[in-house]
Amino acid sequence: MEYFKEVHIPSWRIIQKFCQSNWDRQFTTSKSFGGKNLAYLGSLLEPDIRNLTGQEVKIKAAVMFINRPQFKQEIHIDGFTVDRANTSNTALNLPILNCDTAPMFWYDGEYTLSMNTSDTIKYLRITWQTGPILAIEKIIDKPTIVKVNIPHHIENRSDLPRLMLSVRFTPDIQLG
Ligand SMILES: [Fe+2]
Repeated sequence: MEYFKEVHIPSWRIIQKFCQSNWDRQFTTSKSFGGKNLAYLGSLLEPDIRNLTGQEVKIKAAVMFINRPQFKQEIHIDGFTVDRANTSNTALNLPILNCDTAPMFWYDGEYTLSMNTSDTIKYLRITWQTGPILAIEKIIDKPTIVKVNIPHHIENRSDLPRLMLSVRFTPDIQLG
């Protein structure tokens, strides 16, 4: 199984500048782009994805994660409801700021999922029957398609804030 794949995204540097200028230096956990801003990101990324995969895609969501220094995220699966209806299986992650010391980890095991409504970011909570068993880790310091439908989390092993833009498309970008 492929957990991640680095990809060439020509508009990455432009998007880095756009996202950095859209951060107000507040630690709000995440910032969701909508309206004109989402359309702008789509105008840059949809052609990049078409050139990469040969597939026409539409941008569905773009969320910038804002992680405090030394932030350690809970292991989770992305989604809103346990059946993961309308939830993407992959995301295109674009490093925005200080992403070179924050590994992402993926885990195997047997588990059940439950809804987590207490957090500002919606994701599915995991109850482990066996595991978690570390499958692979990767520092996401270049544009990378990542699997978000298997257990994962990140750790910001730095004394600086970390910004990562995570983009979803319709249809989903496929990873083997
Ligand atoms: Fe996630």
